[in-house]
Amino acid sequence: MSRAKVFVTRQLPQDILDRLAQHCEIDVWDDFLPPPPDVIQQKIGDLDGILCLLTDQIDSTVIDNAPKLRVISNMAVGYDNIDVTYATEKGIPVGNTPGVLTETSADFAFALLMSVARRIPEAQQYVRDDQWKTWHPTVLSGQDIYGATLGVVGFGRIGQAVARRARGFNMNILVNTRSDNDIIDELGAERVELDELLQRSDYVSLHVPLTDATHHLISHNELKLMKSTAILINTARGGVVDSQALYDALTTNEILAAGLDVTDPEPISIDDPLLTLNNCVVVPHIASASVATRRKMAEMAVDNIIAGLMGGTLPTCVNPRVYK
Ligand code: GLV
Repeated sequence: MSRAKVFVTRQLPQDILDRLAQHCEIDVWDDFLPPPPDVIQQKIGDLDGILCLLTDQIDSTVIDNAPKLRVISNMAVGYDNIDVTYATEKGIPVGNTPGVLTETSADFAFALLMSVARRIPEAQQYVRDDQWKTWHPTVLSGQDIYGATLGVVGFGRIGQAVARRARGFNMNILVNTRSDNDIIDELGAERVELDELLQRSDYVSLHVPLTDATHHLISHNELKLMKSTAILINTARGGVVDSQALYDALTTNEILAAGLDVTDPEPISIDDPLLTLNNCVVVPHIASASVATRRKMAEMAVDNIIAGLMGGTLPTCVNPRVYK
């Protein structure tokens, strides 16, 4: 019997690939940049499994061209790059990598919040530009974090982990979520509607997945509700924020500053006006990027592929309905 074929859309640690190769024939995309869509389209017809990243679009056209596909494994917790509804219709399980990146991503959301609040990127540039001539009472003054109010939009694993960190800084925590959650009480947080959260928060941190319902969740009207001293942190998905509205809000002092780990599109164009603003810190989608966590994500993505090929239930499956 011929071996199952799996396409891995980026180089992963060799020992993890070796483990996968014990179960199937693997084809690993070696470039630093993602495989172009036509490469995925051309390969998919022959594949039993695909281990992809959030940069790879696995849409209905790709799935329609994949008569043998038995598993799609995304090395990410988010899966808005995959048409999961269509995969479910076709009976294809889709795996993701939840849990292992929660604390690392929450560390990063908090790090970004702190660097924007205390203007660390600007301060580093100031030193490198040889502007540091003396200690000065007002230069590079930022916003306090301790005791301020943090609004957490979306209260899944990462939102909760960010809120736990905020407790350590003695912050007041507001939460906007649709689901009931005991942890809100345990953290002494308050559950409020989005408008109220935006009006009362000094920091707003976004932790919702990108769906039709959350696309441009933060746009002109929402930014207008925020305090003129407020800071917006987005480590969720770029599409959750309307970038033009954000640019307008940052340039008209509607809000004070923003920190973006994610943009729409990704990568952000080097000509994007957001990159001209001192009050907007943009980093390249690295919230989960610790050496240890990225390794765990690769392990999990491989576990999902192996389970899918063997006809078992994926350990972390986003569409368990396929098994019903
Ligand atoms: C990163 O954004 C992820 O979804 O894992």
